[in-house]
Amino acid sequence: MCGIIGYSGPLEAKNILLEGLAQLEYRGYDSAGIACFDTRSAVQVVKRTGKVAALKEACASMLRHSHCGIGHTRWATHGGVSDTNAHPHRAGRVTLIHNGIIENYHSLTKRFSLESRLVSQTDSEVAAWLLDAFYTGDPYSAVRQLAECVRGSYGFCIMFDDRPGEIYGIRSVSPLVAAYTRSGALVASDLTALIPYTRKYFVVPENHIVKLTGYKISLYDLDGNAVLPEIMEVNWNMDAAMKNGFPHFMLKEIHEQPEALKNTILPRMTKGLPDFTDDQIPDEIFTECAQIHVVACGTAMHAGMVARALMEPVLRIPVMVSIASEFRYEEPLIDEKTLVIIISQSGETIDTLAALRLAKSCGSKTLAIVNVKGSTIARESDYVLYTHAGPEIAVASTKAYSVQLAALYMTSCRMALVRGKFTREQAAAFLAGLLDAIPAMETMIRQKDTERELVTHLIQQNDTFFMGRGLDYAFSLEGALKLKEISYIHAEAYAAGELKHGTIALIAPEVPVIAIATQEHVFSKMISNVREVKARGAFVILLTKEHARVDEGLADIHIKIPDLDDRFTVFPIAVILQLIAYYASIGKNLDVDQPRNLAKSVTVE
Ligand code: G6P
Repeated sequence: MCGIIGYSGPLEAKNILLEGLAQLEYRGYDSAGIACFDTRSAVQVVKRTGKVAALKEACASMLRHSHCGIGHTRWATHGGVSDTNAHPHRAGRVTLIHNGIIENYHSLTKRFSLESRLVSQTDSEVAAWLLDAFYTGDPYSAVRQLAECVRGSYGFCIMFDDRPGEIYGIRSVSPLVAAYTRSGALVASDLTALIPYTRKYFVVPENHIVKLTGYKISLYDLDGNAVLPEIMEVNWNMDAAMKNGFPHFMLKEIHEQPEALKNTILPRMTKGLPDFTDDQIPDEIFTECAQIHVVACGTAMHAGMVARALMEPVLRIPVMVSIASEFRYEEPLIDEKTLVIIISQSGETIDTLAALRLAKSCGSKTLAIVNVKGSTIARESDYVLYTHAGPEIAVASTKAYSVQLAALYMTSCRMALVRGKFTREQAAAFLAGLLDAIPAMETMIRQKDTERELVTHLIQQNDTFFMGRGLDYAFSLEGALKLKEISYIHAEAYAAGELKHGTIALIAPEVPVIAIATQEHVFSKMISNVREVKARGAFVILLTKEHARVDEGLADIHIKIPDLDDRFTVFPIAVILQLIAYYASIGKNLDVDQPRNLAKSVTVE
């Protein structure tokens, strides 16, 4: 969850580390720290609770003229948020930063009698002391011994006092990418920190040791053999990771959705039909499966819920959706006749990765829908369908959700075609409908003042309820999550018919209910449910298609989306729900892009 960076080269290390940490801050922002070799080759550490800006201020007049250092921005797991628990950790001759969780740190503390040495409550400091114990002048041997005894997930960057200018890194599960650039050598937990310096990078393979010096990067396996890194190229530039005039990344990313959708859909269309030839996805995985299991976390899992509601009625095979952290422990009924679709923006979420590995061990075919190129999930899955959203920086996911949906819609269409459930004409009409959703999204983005105004009521309330039927219910799950994440207003989504089995007891005068009613076949039922909450005094925000006729006074606010085929209304609806959450967060004067307690990439269980 944490962001880590290391630099060795001709430039001022402090500046590079601080800029990198600012880019990585969305991975965690409880505290931050850097350690650099000073001009006398001694290691100096500065660390502070709070954001990178606080760290920057703290070291304004320190750590000058250094050319090698490591930096960390933390999302606390073991040990509270304090200066002492912030990284880097010093232990004897070792300085270390860590992203991940060391599961056996208790037993290691006992085994190596470290109790009296530890000054923090972190698992990471235990690793630093172990390294110090193992270090006899050979960094590789020390790092190798560390890797042999720690269990869990880690990305480590390490400096040894007697090796100025050198940084060593190793990872297991947690990500690490590295690059040698004209400005020097860099290693980081993700690409956004490297992009200002290069477009070429490599993913540090698991259980390999990477060594950075000012003039080169070397990679070794654990037997000490030199390994040639597999160089990759990013397909986005620094602009994509900047706010570009928008007050927040979230608003910028909401605006980027139409473009992201085009980038994800259009290259995969041939003669109006879905075509995955360039993705090297064979049709056999679609024709030979008897069931589909979608596995993901958070927003990605909500995209899976929409896919289920869309796919099952067309494909007529079971489509199940699982929360990755549950799936991995529930002995799922999957086999070689199961297509497991894994969805992940980052491609690094630890539970999703574990679910992928489990699916593969059961013989299932795996298809990953991933945004980050070269991420662990992308590399380990049998097949990958990359979404082309570019970097998503705001912690609350917006454009990644839309493109995940687009990829799932295309998958569904291709499957229906090759399984004979769609004729070519039906498949072409489906894709045309999907493309129609893009201008509908643009319309809703243009009309964002509606949401800006309606939140004045919402932000005075403690709870908000979302409801819908069928696909609309699946959309409302994401709407509620978005609102909770960034406005801290308690929100729940309900299948509208279920509300009266308990939850309607919570509907009192002025309680906001966001009712989504875009599905024609259940429209009248849905409106009856809206009447039920209205009769109890709810403040109703109703979302329908343009042509929908509803009684005067039924809704306090009625937002209309363009008339689309029912299957594609999620796209403009998503924009409305995102904007409601966005403006609610602004209205409450909260940190939109970095809400409390959250992190963008969840690499711990
Ligand atoms: C975190 C993020 C969410 C995201 C979820 C899954 O909770 O805050 O926005 O949906 O992780 O992440 P993934 O990268 O696997 O899509």
